[in-house]
Amino acid sequence: MTNASGLAAPPAGAGTLALLGGDPIGAPTRPQYPRFTDRARERVDELLRTGPMVGLSKEHPQVGEAEAAIATWHGVERCLTTASGHAALHAALIGLEITAGAEVITTPYSWGASTSPILHNGAVPVYADVDPDRGLLDPDSVREAIGPRTEAILVTHIFGQPADMTALRELADAKGLALIEDGSQAHGARHRGRRVGCFGDVSGFSCMGGKLLATTEAGYLVTGREDVYWKAILSCQHAGGTEHPGRTAEPGFPSDLLPFSDSLNYTYRLGVLNAVLLVEQLAKLDAENDARRRNRDRFLEAIEGVGSVRAPDYPDGDPVFHMVTLNFVPEHAGVSKETYLAALQAEGAPVFSYITTPLHRLERLRPDTPAPRVMWSEHLRRAGVDYAALELPGCDAKVERSIEMSWNWIDDDPAAMAQLGAAFVKVEQHLDALREHDRRAG
Ligand SMILES: Cc1ncc(COP(=O)(O)O)c(C=O)c1O
Repeated sequence: MTNASGLAAPPAGAGTLALLGGDPIGAPTRPQYPRFTDRARERVDELLRTGPMVGLSKEHPQVGEAEAAIATWHGVERCLTTASGHAALHAALIGLEITAGAEVITTPYSWGASTSPILHNGAVPVYADVDPDRGLLDPDSVREAIGPRTEAILVTHIFGQPADMTALRELADAKGLALIEDGSQAHGARHRGRRVGCFGDVSGFSCMGGKLLATTEAGYLVTGREDVYWKAILSCQHAGGTEHPGRTAEPGFPSDLLPFSDSLNYTYRLGVLNAVLLVEQLAKLDAENDARRRNRDRFLEAIEGVGSVRAPDYPDGDPVFHMVTLNFVPEHAGVSKETYLAALQAEGAPVFSYITTPLHRLERLRPDTPAPRVMWSEHLRRAGVDYAALELPGCDAKVERSIEMSWNWIDDDPAAMAQLGAAFVKVEQHLDALREHDRRAG
């Protein structure tokens, strides 16, 4: 049933907003996440009983299997598994030899982990703007930010939304820059039909337990560049010598990178139990991504007519919904985003704002950051970098309006989507009461 404004009728008992003392709609059930198959558990158990428990290279059967499966799935020649997404991105930058003196143009609208490998390699992040609807790196703004020290562009496919990889690839090629993708939230997202990860010179992915391809803690990089692959390996794998040759024994390991210096690097290798989980989780990832997508469609259908939020569209790509992002429309709602979020949360909707401070506004990245000074703020201070005057209006607009929901509904769940939608519809139908509440609160 719909009312005059086209909104679905609220369920019984939905008379007063929960924020104002009424009964809540209730929280939609969320499946346990991540979910491992019986086969995955059996394989982990088998490995625990039989080992070996350290995977120094593709020679380890489970590590080799995981790297082959991931490379094939991405359609990229080489995969190097790592202990985390952070490790993958750091190894990617090491593989590209991005170091002191270099500038990397990147997005301010991301998790800090996409910036920290730049800082930790002694390079300088230069923040370009993002589009205000999706929060994805704007190629025009990147172009304007290119300077004599720029060596690379690092793009994040935030929330599972694919960035404009055609424009960014063209720009990188035209200017002789490396392109790095952070696909940590976007396994399986496509730009013009091709999976993200295959556009960059090298791309890093997180596979920690909350991600689309979820293990416990893991990551990987994929690259079509042989030089980047070997140099990344060189910097992030223990082993060497004759007894434990590790990756140096892999076919093709360049002899000019020998002698291999054990311990002059990071312990970034993948734990082998997670190698098993990577393979087994990957096998069901496409089906889970499809279910997430269908659930989002159901949710959007349920909130048709709700004018207080707008969902971005994706003319150039197919996102995967690690999170669903929406944009608040204050001109319609007539209340603050905080009040609107509080009303939805009181009804049971799991809404929040994922990024409340963009990276260029982080206090710890200011040259006058309060003590104690930390390594990365000290590095920026010494490099004479100050983001205080940086104006990124697209990013500001996205931060101001953005509303997110974690989206781990990996089975078709019409009931959960209807319940979630009902919370938005109920709040929409009581905007007058909410405005009055805001007015009284001053
Ligand atoms: C965009 C982004 N980049 C990088 C990372 C780092 O991944 P990890 O936590 O596996 O180090 C994460 C997740 O935490 C992320 O969301």
